[in-house]
Amino acid sequence: MKILFLTHSFNSLAQRLYIELARRGHEVSIEFDINDAVTAQAVELYRPELIVAPFLKRAIPEAVWRNHVCFVVHPGIVGDRGPSALDWALMRDCAEWGVTVLQASGEMDAGDIWAAETFPMRLAKKSSLYRNEVVEAAVRGVLKAVERFQSGNFKPQPLDYSCPEVLGRLHAPIKQADRAIDWSRDGTRAVLKKINAADGFPGVLDTLCGEAYYLFDACAEDTLHGNQPGEIIAQRNGAICRSTSDGAVWIGHLKRKAEGKHTFNSDCSSSSNPLQLPLVMGRAEDAPPLTRGGWEGFGSNAFSGLKLPATLALEGHLADVPEASLDAFSSCTGETYRDIWFEQKNGVGYLHFAFYNGAMSSEQCARLREAYLVATQRDVRVIVLMGGADFWSNGIHLNCIEAAASPADESWRNINAMNDLTRAIAATGSQLTIAALQGNAGAGGVFLSLAADQVYARDSVVFNPHYKGMGNLYGSEYWTYLLPRRVGEARAATLTQNRLPVGAAEAQEIGLIDGCFGIERADFLARIEQVAEGLVASPDYSALLQEKVARRERDEREKPLDAYRAEELQHMKLNFYGFDPSYHVARYNFVYKILHAWTPLYLARHRRIAR
Ligand code: COA
Repeated sequence: MKILFLTHSFNSLAQRLYIELARRGHEVSIEFDINDAVTAQAVELYRPELIVAPFLKRAIPEAVWRNHVCFVVHPGIVGDRGPSALDWALMRDCAEWGVTVLQASGEMDAGDIWAAETFPMRLAKKSSLYRNEVVEAAVRGVLKAVERFQSGNFKPQPLDYSCPEVLGRLHAPIKQADRAIDWSRDGTRAVLKKINAADGFPGVLDTLCGEAYYLFDACAEDTLHGNQPGEIIAQRNGAICRSTSDGAVWIGHLKRKAEGKHTFNSDCSSSSNPLQLPLVMGRAEDAPPLTRGGWEGFGSNAFSGLKLPATLALEGHLADVPEASLDAFSSCTGETYRDIWFEQKNGVGYLHFAFYNGAMSSEQCARLREAYLVATQRDVRVIVLMGGADFWSNGIHLNCIEAAASPADESWRNINAMNDLTRAIAATGSQLTIAALQGNAGAGGVFLSLAADQVYARDSVVFNPHYKGMGNLYGSEYWTYLLPRRVGEARAATLTQNRLPVGAAEAQEIGLIDGCFGIERADFLARIEQVAEGLVASPDYSALLQEKVARRERDEREKPLDAYRAEELQHMKLNFYGFDPSYHVARYNFVYKILHAWTPLYLARHRRIAR
C-alpha cells in the first residue's frame, strides 16, 4: 500500500513504524506537518491509500481527513483524550496504560478506533516509557490497524463512554502548577514521580541558585541526605544531588528558562506526542534569537533553553558543593546516580555507559575510555559494551558543544575524544569484545559499536548509520574503516548518503551487525550473557583472539588507523572551521528544536517523484 506519514518530525516512533511497514512491503513517504496547504499538497502529489500520523502537534486539515482515512497514533488507552496523556498516567500512578490507533475526525482523539494496545506501566522516565513501551504498543497497534484497513471488511469502533471497558477520559492539559515540587513536603518518591512524568519535555520548573530551571533526568539516592530540603548537597559527573523531605534525589540535567518569552498556559499543545514542545511563532519556546551569522555566532547564549548536564548549567554556583565521587568499578547496592559502571561475572566484564539521550561529551568519552582500559586489565576474557537501557550512543554531545565558548573547538575536542575511545576498542588485543545494543544508536554512536568484534542488538533497535543530516557532517570514529569492512564499500555509501533509519533485522541481513534478538530488555540481556559466556568457554576462544589480532595487524599494514583518522578529520576540520556553516546551523536547529520549514527530499518520496 502507498502510505503517507504526516508527522511533526521523523522521531523514534515514526522511524520504527516506517521500518516495520516498509519491511512488510508497504511504500511509505513522509511529510512533515508544516501547515495545512503543504499537507494538502503532499496528499495531492502522493495520492496515498492511507495516511498515518505517528506524531502530530496540530489537527489534520478537514479536507484531508474527510477524503482519506487518517490513522492517528494516540499514546493513551481507549477513551483517553487530550494532551499530556503519558504525563497524567505517570502522575496518577496508573498500573496499565496504552496506545490507541484512531481515525482522525472533527473532534481531537475522538474518532473511531481501529486498534488499541495496552502495557503495564513501569516506574520510569516518561521519555523511556515513550521510547520503549509506547513505541512497541504503537507498532503492534498500527500493524493491526493497517491489516484491518487492507482487509476491507473491518468496521472501526466508535468511541462509547457508556462501555465499561472504556476507561480513559478527556483530561485537561497538564500545567507546571500540577508538576510543581514542594521541597519541604515532597519525599524522594514524590519528587521522582514529578520529574519522571515531565522527562524529555518539558521538565519540572523549579528555582535553583536564584534562577528558573526545568529539571530532568532524576534518580533516587539511598545514602546521602542533607538538612535543608531542596538544598544541593553533592555533585557527581555532571549531576547534582538535592535533599528531599525524607532523603535525596539526583538531577542529571537542567534547562534554564528563557527570560521574557511568552509561556503557554499548558505545557503541551496537542495530544499525540508526550515529548513535544510548545511553539512560539514557529520557533521553539526557549530558543534564543538566531541573529548572528557564521559559526562563531552560534553557541554563546547563556545556556537559555539548552538542556545541559546540571553542573554545567549551574557552572560557577557549585564551588562549595562537595564531589561525591563513585568509582565505576566499586560494587554498589542501593540507588544512586552513576553513568559508567562495571560488572564482572563468569569471565565476562560488562561495561555500562548510560549517558542521557546517548549523547557523549568529551569528558564522558575520556572517562569511558579510561574505564574501558581498566576493564581490559581485569581478569575477563570478554568485554561487553552495554551502553544504556534507552540509548546505546548518539555520538558527540551536541548540547555541550553548543554551550561551549567555542563550539568549533569543542566539536574538535569531542570528536577526538570519541576517536580515542573507538580506537581503544578497535585495537584491543587482550579480550574479545561485544557491543550489546539495548537501545538505539545514531551517527558516531553506530560506528563506535562497530569497533567491537561482535555486535548484537535488541529486535526493536533503530540504527541511523549516517552523519549527513547534521549539516553535511562528514563524520569520524574511523567509520571509513569500520563500516565498509562490515557491509562493503557500495552499501557503506548507500547507508551514509540515504540517511534512512535501519531496523535491527535489516542491519543483521546486510551484515552491519551479527544478530538481533529479544523485544523485552530482560530477554535480550539474558541472551547476551549466554553469548558472552559461550565465547569465554568456547574451545575456539584462543583461535578467535589470535585471528582478530592477526586481522588488525594485517589491516594496519594495509592502511594504518591513523591514516583513516587523519583523512576523516581533514573533512571534519572543514565542517567545524571552514566557510560553510551548515553543521553549526544544523546543530543549533537540532539542540533548540527549531521547526522544520520543509521535508527533506530523502524522506519525501512524493516530492522526489514530482521533481
Ligand atoms: N547530542 C545531544 N543530544 C542528542 C544527541 C546528541 N548527539 N542525539 C540525540 N540527542 C537528544 C535529542 O536532542 C533529544 O533530546 P530531548 O528529547 O531530551 O530534548 C533526545 O536525545 C532524543 O533524540 P530524538 O531526536 O528525539 O531521538 P530520535 O530517536 O527521535 O532520533 C537520532 C534519533 C539519532 C536520529 C537523532 O537523535 C539525531 O539525529 N541525533 C544526532 C546525531 C548526531 O548527529 N550526532 C553527532 C554526530 S556524531
